[in-house]
Amino acid sequence: MGLLDDVDEILIPEAAIQPRIRELGSAISSDYEGKDPLLVGILTGAFVFLSDLLRQITIPCQVDFMATSSYGEGTESSGIVRILKDLDQTIEGRHVLIVDDIIDTGLTMDYLLETLKARYPASLRVCALLDKVPRRRREVRIDYRGFEIPDKFVVGYGLDFGGQYRNVPFVCVLKPEVYR
Ligand code: PRP
Repeated sequence: MGLLDDVDEILIPEAAIQPRIRELGSAISSDYEGKDPLLVGILTGAFVFLSDLLRQITIPCQVDFMATSSYGEGTESSGIVRILKDLDQTIEGRHVLIVDDIIDTGLTMDYLLETLKARYPASLRVCALLDKVPRRRREVRIDYRGFEIPDKFVVGYGLDFGGQYRNVPFVCVLKPEVYR
């Protein structure tokens, strides 16, 4: 039995992800021309998206990471956001673009926006691959959005269930027995 045997439904195939990321990269490159943006990847989930997005950005830019946790082992957000790793650099006066794999309840991004805004960046925007609108508990403005998805627990392309499935190259839903 391989990983792919656990897949019930592919929501976003690999062939759809890459062209969308090219479009996002192109929009970011044009909007941030001459601004030397700092892309802040939110670990762990965003590392796959960020690494592809970064290579579609054609202007000078830098990368830093933060790690947060809200889910624990299950499929429901605990509602409590913890910073596990902070930025390595100061962002005062920088054009900061937060990059995450998914906005679900919005609790994580709301917390990050508040936290980073207090450090006086020149600008602060959000880029998210997936937007799960029906689950939103905090209003979050997504400046660069890959795809809107329904209220289903998704894995793959960086997103995990119990730490697994991040290496699946598409966004999918697992068979119900896997979640039990
Ligand atoms: C996921 C995802 C977002 C957050 C979104 O991270 O990467 O950061 O949850 O959920 P929210 O909108 O309900 O706050 P998670 O805490 O699962 O950590 P991970 O990236 O290490 O899997």
